[in-house]
Amino acid sequence: MNRIEIAPSILSADFGYLMREIKEVEPHCRFLHLDVMDGHYVPNMTIGVPVIKTIRKHTDLIFDCHLMITNPERYIKAFADCGCDYITFQIECSDDVIGLCEAIRSMGKKAGIAIHPDTPVEELYPYLEYCDLVLIMSVIPGFGGQIYMPESTKRLAAVRRELDRIASDAILSVDGGINIRTVKEAYDAGARLLVAGSAVFNNDDHGHAVEELKECVLL
Ligand code: DX5
Ligand code: ZN
Repeated sequence: MNRIEIAPSILSADFGYLMREIKEVEPHCRFLHLDVMDGHYVPNMTIGVPVIKTIRKHTDLIFDCHLMITNPERYIKAFADCGCDYITFQIECSDDVIGLCEAIRSMGKKAGIAIHPDTPVEELYPYLEYCDLVLIMSVIPGFGGQIYMPESTKRLAAVRRELDRIASDAILSVDGGINIRTVKEAYDAGARLLVAGSAVFNNDDHGHAVEELKECVLL
């Protein structure tokens, strides 16, 4: 994957009109980012299986599910069955990262590993060959609308180098504070799937906001 992909995060969408919000971004992207929070790993709670199952009926977008939950191994089957395509868990929440990646893949899904800004990126390296996506958190997980942490750029570049070194084609993704001022920096550091919540859904024209982010990397 070499060109930029934007994954709008519905966390900042108007949940009262969720499907309408998704339809607005649909022509402009291939991925939709779904943040699942349990109130344990992060001090916030969001959506889960019933909502994902419902929206799955109305869109063919690739569901990029980001589990910010403890004990992810207990729930991956439910998230696989409700129609997620990529299932990404926090590395901090698993004692068996390889086993979890293999379990997700055995369900016919793509396995993703997310990493908290406080966790050294080197902790990912033993697992890169087992996953299909690596998600560098560029804010503290839990809430939309935070500021991109500048150290994330170096972290992205380091993981990019390591993925290239082992000739992995796993997608390098970044999540948090991506907007028209930060998108190019993250892309230039090697991210190819850029998650954007408030930059897309707090803009009145959601589709235009996605296009604008893509245009920024061409400048
Ligand atoms: C935060 C979530 C993000 C969030 C990003 O924990 O994982 O996906 O929606 O929101 P913005 O783009 O507003 O930083
Ligand atoms: Zn996320």
